[in-house]
Amino acid sequence: DSAPVLTIDGPGGAGKGTISRLVAERLGWHLLDSGALYRLTALAAVKHEVPLDDEATLAEVARDLDVVFVAEEDATIVLLEGQDATTTIRTEQVGDAASRVAALPAVRQALLQRQRDFHQAPGLVADGRDMGTVVFTDAPLKIFLTASADERAHRRQRQLQEAGVDASLSSLLKEIQARDARDTQRSVAPLKPADDAITLDTTRLTIPEVVDRLTELLTERG
Ligand code: C5P
Repeated sequence: DSAPVLTIDGPGGAGKGTISRLVAERLGWHLLDSGALYRLTALAAVKHEVPLDDEATLAEVARDLDVVFVAEEDATIVLLEGQDATTTIRTEQVGDAASRVAALPAVRQALLQRQRDFHQAPGLVADGRDMGTVVFTDAPLKIFLTASADERAHRRQRQLQEAGVDASLSSLLKEIQARDARDTQRSVAPLKPADDAITLDTTRLTIPEVVDRLTELLTERG
């Protein structure tokens, strides 16, 4: 497929989700939230009582994932086996389970084609950890979005507050650091910038500033 792909990789809480959605909206492109696929795999595994270290069965769960993404006004509704899983997959618990199943090579392999199926005209914004390094290696523009762990913990806390959930900054920081460690140190598709990625530190940038910068970069790269 010759439709352009913009990959946005980086650690959790760097704003990838929001930024990717806004850039995709502005361009009228498709959006792949690859983290959601790992979260859904973890949730489906828990639902079907598959142990989170049973690699072969987890790969089957990933391959057979019955998921529908419904694009709404300013969010995407996620249906797992016909049931609304939109908020459930965002919990820390599911995020933690996701990063465990994501460390298993057979699970990553099982989700590869499903992710590549999102690559369609007029273009794709792909959000994840290995979009530029593994899934869409030919993407003309690869971004590595970062922010300090402190700033990411603050952002996460604000996000949770808006959803009516109270969480302490220190526990969020600990979770972020544990997730970072697991994502960067795993042997398969570890979190790291692609050799040809542009790193953008968003610690001191607002969301509109990041969206503008990415749109500029895309125009420059034509
Ligand atoms: O981005 P999000 O927090 O939704 O991702 C959840 C987990 O899924 C991450 O912590 C990471 O371990 C895993 N993941 C991954 N590769 C991706 C996207 C997410 O390993 N492309």
